[in-house]
Amino acid sequence: MKASVLSFRAAVLMVVAGMIWGIVMGISQDHSTFPAHAHLNLLGWVSLFLFGVYYHLHPAIDRHRLTFVQVWVWIAATIILAAGVALLDSGHAMGDPIAAAGSLLALADMLLFGWLVYRRAQGQLAGQPSPAPAE
Ligand code: HEM
Repeated sequence: MKASVLSFRAAVLMVVAGMIWGIVMGISQDHSTFPAHAHLNLLGWVSLFLFGVYYHLHPAIDRHRLTFVQVWVWIAATIILAAGVALLDSGHAMGDPIAAAGSLLALADMLLFGWLVYRRAQGQLAGQPSPAPAE
């Protein structure tokens, strides 16, 4: 499987969960967990989908081992962060360290994505040709 396919599949699962979460908030008229819902949708749907688009546009790294690591870590970080924020939203202080761990993991993983982008731009990732000069 390509990393872009993993990204798209995970993004769809996340947005289905996020939409159900939103509908439950609407029906119950309890919006207290909306920050967690927003994080799940924005990190899990929007960001994962964008990672998938980037990797699809750069087939040379779409099967790179580090690209899969980046996507899997993002999936884990999104779940940990959304769970931690949801616990905080519902008055459980134990959500604080969980949200902190998820946020640091997400930041580290975004730095890994940035590294992949810059290395790709410089043509330094194994098994790929150098990019065209205009890139
Ligand atoms: C069936 C789909 C969805 C439903 C029913 C839903 C429902 C809700 C509800 C009830 C709130 C709380 C609003 C408030 O109390 O101010 C909310 C907030 C929010 N939702 Fe959704 N949502 C859905 C999908 C999405 C998606 C797909 C995204 C992102 C791509 C998203 C992003 C957000 C954000 C960023 C907020 C926070 C807005 C604010 O700060 O006021 N939602 N949503």
